[in-house]
Amino acid sequence: MDIRFSRLSVLFLVLLSWTSFTTTDAYDALDPNGNITIKWDIMSWTPDGYVAVVTIFNFQQYRHIQAPGWQLGWTWLKKEVIWSMVGAQATEQGDCSKFKGNIPHCCKKTPTVVDLLPGTPYNQQISNCCKGGVISSWAQDPSTAVSSFQISVGQSGTTNKTVRAPRNITLKSPGPGYTCGPAKNVMPSKFISGDKRRKTQALLTWNMTCTYSQFLARKTPTCCVSLSSFYNQTIVPCPTCSCGCQNSSQSGTCVDNPKISSVVPATSGKNNLEPLLQCTQHMCPIRVHWHVKTNYKEYWRVKVTITNFNYNMNYTQWNMVVQHPNFDNLTQLFSFNYKPLNPYAGINDTAMLWGIKFYNDFLSQAGPIGNVQSELLFRKNPSKFTFEKGWAFPRRIYFNGDNCVMPPPDSYPWLPNATPNLATSPLIILVITLFSFLILM
Ligand SMILES: *[C@@H]1O[C@H](CO)[C@@H](O)[C@H](O)[C@H]1NC(C)=O
Ligand SMILES: *[C@@H]1O[C@H](CO)[C@@H](O)[C@H](O)[C@H]1NC(C)=O
Ligand SMILES: *[C@@H]1O[C@H](CO)[C@@H](O)[C@H](O)[C@H]1NC(C)=O
Ligand SMILES: *[C@@H]1O[C@H](CO)[C@@H](O)[C@H](O)[C@H]1NC(C)=O
Ligand SMILES: *[C@@H]1O[C@H](CO)[C@@H](O)[C@H](O)[C@H]1NC(C)=O
Ligand SMILES: *[C@@H]1O[C@H](CO)[C@@H](O)[C@H](O)[C@H]1NC(C)=O
Ligand SMILES: *[C@@H]1O[C@H](CO)[C@@H](O)[C@H](O)[C@H]1NC(C)=O
Ligand SMILES: *[C@@H]1O[C@H](CO)[C@@H](O)[C@H](O)[C@H]1NC(C)=O
Ligand SMILES: *[C@@H]1O[C@H](CO)[C@@H](O)[C@H](O)[C@H]1NC(C)=O
Repeated sequence: MDIRFSRLSVLFLVLLSWTSFTTTDAYDALDPNGNITIKWDIMSWTPDGYVAVVTIFNFQQYRHIQAPGWQLGWTWLKKEVIWSMVGAQATEQGDCSKFKGNIPHCCKKTPTVVDLLPGTPYNQQISNCCKGGVISSWAQDPSTAVSSFQISVGQSGTTNKTVRAPRNITLKSPGPGYTCGPAKNVMPSKFISGDKRRKTQALLTWNMTCTYSQFLARKTPTCCVSLSSFYNQTIVPCPTCSCGCQNSSQSGTCVDNPKISSVVPATSGKNNLEPLLQCTQHMCPIRVHWHVKTNYKEYWRVKVTITNFNYNMNYTQWNMVVQHPNFDNLTQLFSFNYKPLNPYAGINDTAMLWGIKFYNDFLSQAGPIGNVQSELLFRKNPSKFTFEKGWAFPRRIYFNGDNCVMPPPDSYPWLPNATPNLATSPLIILVITLFSFLILM
């Protein structure tokens, strides 16, 4: 019996993990409403077009855009040109040879726009610009989860009937992953004056919504989880080939030491999208280690370590999301920031953790200092708490918004003298229920 059930449960798990890897839709169970909204507010008409303020709101709880920053692209429907921009710039001017005298900033039909860098002269700035395209996540810091620029468009319509919204919007972060919907004509935005006594409004407002899919961003995972505990000496490593295999053709390059290796980092000293990985059996840029450290009478303590195996990336403002049923009784957290996430009312099992500014919000490239750590103290809830059946280990971990590969549940460290009691695990009960349901049918 036991053998049959464990086979079934393995099959079930395989199916489960397979479905979660092959979904291409952008739905994220831990952040069901997460999106990036881009708002175009036309503030004034000009003789041949308009001036608009474009604002990018990152409404995602835990996915941010880090250096080298966002890139926004679109296709003009008519013969529009960009006369000028404030707080951002088009990456290419394109062919403006038809113009005499005043030369536009950009004549391309499909412009790509990037943020300006910090330190831009004041007369080229507007509020929320010039952060090198870096946007915080909403939970981490809503005040910096916004980026804007001003754009002056010519050869477009000059009334709300003749003007056309840009099409085929693309948002890169700067890699792929986001899919943007069409521009929608919405109620014009209202703005409150500095003294709060007057409201003005945009002449016309378009909203566009972009959603993220980890599958579109990368075909392979980017992080994995390893586990250990005080009650068993076994360290359960990340599953082999979690993010790629050393010998596979696509993700096969790794080095043991970049200094003595002939493979020199392409852009040493600058974040590069192509990872240069330290050789590991899991080949992930990031590993999260969860160690069940101490058992007290009323509390228990966990140590979490995040290790960077990528020589080409310093992670700034990194964040981590952890799902564990004891987060409703988290008592103390050392050296990380913490915010509970409640995607579903009444269930407080998910937490977002991130580094403390100027202390450990910077996760250095691979090497001796490429890690950050913290300890979590939980209060035991006697009706739920147990060290058995892997209860003390996290259910799910995300790093920078990407789901990390967990070891298979049957490999978790056991309590001494305990055999995994499959017959009573919730999964088995589920499988039995399904099984008897099928028989009844
Ligand atoms: C985008 O996110 C905001 C904030 O969570 C939400 O109010 C809005 O409905 C979302 N938009 C879409 C199209 O999902
Ligand atoms: C365009 O402007 C006219 C008058 O100014 C207004 O009645 C109409 O609702 C506007 N249309 C849109 C789509 O904003
Ligand atoms: C937008 O993209 C779609 C599909 O890629 C294409 O068919 C369409 O022509 C594009 N629209 C414009 C205005 O370029
Ligand atoms: C358009 O986007 C803005 C900013 O995100 C939001 O406040 C507004 O509610 C959105 N409008 C609609 C109709 O979704
Ligand atoms: C990778 O290739 C090397 C040499 O070709 C071999 O020794 C090693 O066992 C292979 N490793 C894996 C994980 O296949
Ligand atoms: C990471 O930051 C350190 C210290 O600021 C710097 O020396 C190093 O070149 C950076 N590496 C990358 C890949 O950006
Ligand atoms: C659980 O979440 C709700 C809603 O955010 C909050 O009011 C409540 O205090 C939380 N409970 C705990 C124990 O964190
Ligand atoms: C743990 O949290 C739950 C839900 O917030 C609460 O009902 C319970 O009393 C807490 N347990 C302890 C031991 O604090
Ligand atoms: C520790 O856990 C492993 C499973 O990961 C198990 O094989 C081993 O027997 C356990 N050790 C002890 C002393 O129980």
